[in-house]
Amino acid sequence: MRPLRPWALLLGALLGAAAAASRSYPHVAVLDGAAAYRLLWGRRGSALAFRLEVRTRGYVGFGLSAGGGMASADIVVGGVEGGQPYLQDYHTDENRVLKKDPQQDYRLEYAMENSTHTILAFSRELHTCDPNDKSITESTVRVIWAYHHKDLGEAGQNYHGSTRGTKSLRLLNPEKAEVSPASLSYFDLTNKDVPVPDKDTTYWCQMFKIPVQHEKHHVTKVQPLIQKGHENLVHHILLYQCSSNLNDSILDYGHECYHPNMPDSFFTCETVIFAWAIGGEGFTYPPHVGLSIGTAADPQFVLMEVHYDNPTYTEGLIDNSGLRLFYTPVLRKYDAGVIEAGLWVSLFHNIPPGMPEFVSEGHCTLECLEEVCVLSETRVMSDLLIFKMFLTSKKKFQM
Ligand SMILES: *[C@@H]1O[C@H](CO)[C@@H](O)[C@H](O)[C@H]1NC(C)=O
Ligand SMILES: *[C@@H]1O[C@H](CO)[C@@H](O)[C@H](O)[C@H]1NC(C)=O
Repeated sequence: MRPLRPWALLLGALLGAAAAASRSYPHVAVLDGAAAYRLLWGRRGSALAFRLEVRTRGYVGFGLSAGGGMASADIVVGGVEGGQPYLQDYHTDENRVLKKDPQQDYRLEYAMENSTHTILAFSRELHTCDPNDKSITESTVRVIWAYHHKDLGEAGQNYHGSTRGTKSLRLLNPEKAEVSPASLSYFDLTNKDVPVPDKDTTYWCQMFKIPVQHEKHHVTKVQPLIQKGHENLVHHILLYQCSSNLNDSILDYGHECYHPNMPDSFFTCETVIFAWAIGGEGFTYPPHVGLSIGTAADPQFVLMEVHYDNPTYTEGLIDNSGLRLFYTPVLRKYDAGVIEAGLWVSLFHNIPPGMPEFVSEGHCTLECLEEVCVLSETRVMSDLLIFKMFLTSKKKFQM
């Protein structure tokens, strides 16, 4: 018998690795707009396992940060340099200076590089008891990411010159762990053949009527339905509650939002009831919470706003993306709600010329919170940061 050729062994090993990867990482998110940074993760007992697939042959950074910035963050940096994998646990102080943790809590599982990408797999305990690390909890966290075209040895221990960003994620999202009962009913709110213009940014608005009427139900889960191939085109989706005094004449009509010719009915849709953004997974409400539909006080008409991002000005794109809402008549203890906080960006929001940096702060006062909720009864399930920018100046927002 002829011996197995080395490439056959290698192929077998790769296939094995691919199967293992999909088994142990039920969650996936693309962290950047260019789809160069992919994060996969999954729970392993008291630890969380991560796999980063990043379009670079230099170093890759990943971290958790309270404010989404580089200050006081928990960071891990790794890569493959001269055929040798490396992975180190760092933190930054309040001045964003990167320091190596005396206690190393990230365990490298494997690292590899092909001609375009670096792949790093590592794991970490949810609670490391290291004051330099952030605990991983059920809450939404700000994940920060970075990559550089050089490896750490060559680029030095700083993040300058790296491509980087931040994203809000629920790392312990129960989404995939929970088996959806087949009996769960759902309805879809999807765009119908929207001709996406060959321009950078389009907000498309479409009215829908909630098909569940006459009896209270709870929406327990919302899943994005992104048309295949449009994963980078559909940037975010918002669902607004509109006036209940509308009639069916406004349905089946889509139009560009924030446009002089948009129908008056669109102006009645003010309250956001659901939000999804690129790279995000579906959203599962906690087991004791649901979004109420079906009663007179609940949304009857909703407006779905889809933000299309077409930086290459591709022509002829037709989109049918949207949302799938799962609902049940088995009511939960609490109704879910959405609090919007932030800063209204208006024409009077001036950024003085020549400023290298300008902070705009939005505050939700205690009085304002008390008006909408009994604080002791309120828990934040998830949060999402969305900026609509109509200005072209370079600026930085902090929330
Ligand atoms: C390199 O790995 C990445 C991530 O697994 C993959 O998407 C890409 O296709 C690979 N490239 C080549 C040339 O094999
Ligand atoms: C529906 O609403 C439109 C606009 O508000 C109005 O012109 C029309 O008469 C209404 N139709 C019915 C059947 O109520």
